[in-house]
Amino acid sequence: MLKECRTILEDQQRSDGPLAGKKVVVTAGPTREYLDPVRFISNPSSGKMGFAMAEAAQQLGAEVILIHGPVTIEKPADIATTEIAIGTSDFFEQVQNHADADVVIMAAAVSDFTSKEIHQQKVKKDKADSSIQLKQTPDILAWLGDHKKNGQVLIGFAMETENLLENAKDKLERKNADWIVANALNEDDSGFASDKNKVHLIGQNDSKQIEGLKPEVARHVLAHIFKNR
Ligand code: CTP
Repeated sequence: MLKECRTILEDQQRSDGPLAGKKVVVTAGPTREYLDPVRFISNPSSGKMGFAMAEAAQQLGAEVILIHGPVTIEKPADIATTEIAIGTSDFFEQVQNHADADVVIMAAAVSDFTSKEIHQQKVKKDKADSSIQLKQTPDILAWLGDHKKNGQVLIGFAMETENLLENAKDKLERKNADWIVANALNEDDSGFASDKNKVHLIGQNDSKQIEGLKPEVARHVLAHIFKNR
């Protein structure tokens, strides 16, 4: 009975929420840039923060498209559409397919680099070069910033090891984003695989510190951004 009441209440919150009827794309988790079929460049992103953002957007009424990299955690239930991406180019293609979204949340830890050469067969160690030649990947958030449609809200993330606020503000400007959710890798209870997070939400004329479990942080971030809409 209690469960049924809660479901009715949740449904009502969803249809009245500030994101009701809005299409929200959320990217989450790490990318893999393959060097050969058995080796890749990646990072320790767990996908927890991105999944929390997807659930929070859905609770505000959004139709959520979740694009996520290879993760081991359980996927959030009831998300309208879930797509898997591996490399930065997969994420780029899938985000471009949904570039008409009302809101894009780039929580994925997208690689800045990929290998210049991808070997079709496993490279044998006695034949391998001692260095890997890298090239930059396309910057998906910057592309979205360049092609921003009227009224679209772009939310980026920044994981920094130094000069957190300065670097995050620079990203906000450089990528033409509306908001950056910045966190420091070297703080306790924050960062890649933690269940908690401490973030600075930075807008053009606004900044707010939020901390707690990742689902709470995600809800507060979206509540702050969409409070007056
Ligand atoms: N991002 C992206 N495409 C990339 C790299 C990053 O869309 N090729 C997005 C991330 O998903 C994140 C934001 O841009 O939302 C910031 O990513 P980050 O790697 O911290 O910033 P960069 O400016 O790309 O890199 P650096 O910190 O090295 O300057």
